[in-house]
Amino acid sequence: AFHWSSRKPMRVLITGAAGQIGYAIVAMAANGDMLGQDQPVILHLLDIEPAKQALQGVKMELMDAAYPLLVDVVATTDLQEACAGVEVAVMVGGFPRKAGMERKDVMAKNVSIYAQQARALEAHASRDVKILVIANPANTNALMLKEHAPSIPAENITALTRLDHNRALAQIAARAGTHVSNVRNVIIWGNHSSTQFPDVAHGTVDGRPIREVLRGEEDAAWLDGEFVETVQQRGAAVIKARGLSSAMSAASSACDHIHDWFNGTAPGKWVSMGVYGDGSYGQPAGLIYSYPVTCQHGKWKIVQGLEIDSHCAAKLKASADELLEERELALACISEAAAAAQ
Ligand code: NAD
Ligand code: LMR
Repeated sequence: AFHWSSRKPMRVLITGAAGQIGYAIVAMAANGDMLGQDQPVILHLLDIEPAKQALQGVKMELMDAAYPLLVDVVATTDLQEACAGVEVAVMVGGFPRKAGMERKDVMAKNVSIYAQQARALEAHASRDVKILVIANPANTNALMLKEHAPSIPAENITALTRLDHNRALAQIAARAGTHVSNVRNVIIWGNHSSTQFPDVAHGTVDGRPIREVLRGEEDAAWLDGEFVETVQQRGAAVIKARGLSSAMSAASSACDHIHDWFNGTAPGKWVSMGVYGDGSYGQPAGLIYSYPVTCQHGKWKIVQGLEIDSHCAAKLKASADELLEERELALACISEAAAAAQ
């Protein structure tokens, strides 16, 4: 197909594409927000049988929107067809949390999906496919995907905590009375759950340390208390307000995650990503854990050498402990599901 850009189109898989986040993210991906304004895309949309008709509706709307960067749309309920040749996979498919549930309550429903889809990605996706898991429990789904796709490099499998990161930036900006783009280098440590630790110790507002800009007694108490809780509980607050979990902000943050991964982070800037841990900052290796990272040439690197005080260290460990517990639960769910299927 003719296109003004000389670049080869990239195939991007979006699972759960007929759902809420799907509806927002397909538009952003087709508009260049995910891979850049000069990168044509072919969108592979996957959903399950009951959503087949709705999925065709999404395809119709993508055609109707006449996006210049959108070369083709494959809308399917066939997992193999969906995974064929994809270079980016955004894993949204699954069941969302409802009011009153913790994210790990959706575990049994979602982890088995990730084990199955891992095998399909391994067999049919591009050898260097880069994967972002959004569906909850995001870190543990990503880990199960990794465990069931041994030939996909572990560094290619990530989970979304950029939404939490952006939420933290927005809260600091509002408190400091500045625009969100002037706030940098907050960190989300750990799990995309209420044990995550939003850390401002190394962040800046207009180039000055956050704790210097927000330094009054009230501001300090806010940073140590309400700010942390607000970020940890923001997903639940959105569910309460909308009656549905966050979708547009999740989609937008997912585009930020992939955009920075492929195109790099600006010098001196870092972002939070759930990545396969190597033991950095004393956290157990082999978990998908959110760390501060920089990206260059399509690879992320954990920011090293940050000073961690004992309060922060305890928070990091608590989130790692939760992830270890989730891992056990997830493995048990997967073997139960496998036994039931026999
Ligand atoms: P949704 O219910 O609107 O959409 C999910 C879609 O996934 C549905 O269309 C469903 O049919 C589809 N689906 C279910 N099983 C599937 C499978 N095996 N293969 C392919 N598709 C499948 O939910 P949503 O609001 O779009 O949320 C999706 C997920 O993202 C939920 O797990 C939610 O909790 C999570 N979430 C994560 C973050 C984050 O920051 N990590 C933010 C928001 C939402
Ligand atoms: C979010 O953070 O908004 C999502 O993970 C949805 C949820 O269950 O909180």
